[in-house]
Amino acid sequence: MVRGMQKIYINDISPGTFIAKDIYNSCGTMLVSKGTVIMDRFIKQLEDTGITELFVEDASFESVEKNSCDDSGLFDKEQQKLPINGIINEKTRIQAQMQVKKIMVRYSAHSHVNIDKIYKIVENIIEQLLSRSEIILTLSQLRSIDDYTYEHSVNVSVLSLIVGIDMSLGKEALGNLGTGAMLHDIGKAVIPDSVLKKPSKLTSSEFNEIKKHSEYGYEILSKIGLPEEAALIALHHHEKYDGSGYPMKLKGNEIPLYSRIVAIADVYDAISNDRVYKRKFSPDKVFRQIAQLGNTHFDPEVMGKFVSHLTLYPNGSGVILNTNHKGIIIGQNRFLPQSPVVRIFRKGRSDIGNRYTDVDLSQTKFLYITDTF
Ligand SMILES: [Fe+2]
Repeated sequence: MVRGMQKIYINDISPGTFIAKDIYNSCGTMLVSKGTVIMDRFIKQLEDTGITELFVEDASFESVEKNSCDDSGLFDKEQQKLPINGIINEKTRIQAQMQVKKIMVRYSAHSHVNIDKIYKIVENIIEQLLSRSEIILTLSQLRSIDDYTYEHSVNVSVLSLIVGIDMSLGKEALGNLGTGAMLHDIGKAVIPDSVLKKPSKLTSSEFNEIKKHSEYGYEILSKIGLPEEAALIALHHHEKYDGSGYPMKLKGNEIPLYSRIVAIADVYDAISNDRVYKRKFSPDKVFRQIAQLGNTHFDPEVMGKFVSHLTLYPNGSGVILNTNHKGIIIGQNRFLPQSPVVRIFRKGRSDIGNRYTDVDLSQTKFLYITDTF
């Protein structure tokens, strides 16, 4: 039996569903292991610990499989591992988030900050990324369940490292890129909560104060002993390729490479979080938003590397085409993530073997994806 995986809100879960990924609390303790059947009381307990979303095995795949195909057919062995694999293991992610939190809280309390631990964690992440033959991300894959800032910091680091590895950076360079990326927003630690977490609209002077987190971040990272190339990530991660960013309005390659990489990872993760949070999750729209910004905000070369690791519609996911036909994604076009290969199901045919047709959307102008199911 082939099962996929999907992330759902805890309120939407039904008892009897299988958990598809280990669940940890914010201290790194495992609460529920993969394969556990969720019972009513678990749902309540998980809610009490503040967990809002989790990965479950996706029953909808089974129904597609049973109703539409013969045994030989829909998913081959390779695809059974998909659609969603963790990019880094959950324990490392939690450790990283805790470490970023510790550094930010300690720094704002004027206590001693130790950067060795975070370098170790980044090294561990790099090892995990390097051990994969191919890194393909799905849009919601990096989202987890903890405090946004720390989760975002780890995501930006992982995304930046994926690009760094693609650019064949050496291990020391990757260590600096990953660590600087993880602490890119550390300057926020010295901005008062009254401004940072203000629920109402910011005044222009408050907004200017928040913008200073880049410069504060650079000072902090230099002070706690990060190499210059890592500290510069904090300083320049809000510069834009066309020169319209801050704090120095640097343009093009005047912006250090690591900051150009982190700039894309930062915006990408923020947009996908926003969409997941508002439940307006449309991979295509996120992709288009990023691609549009690519003309002005981002280095096109870095952007190309980034996009080549993105899959909008993971293998095994269900899509609806402009013709209203339903299909299942069975393959990807690496540089055209919006045009994957789809197995389209035909209605009303009795001969099982011919119930579907495989179409490479990059080879046709007339068929495109309009929705997911
Ligand atoms: Fe920032």
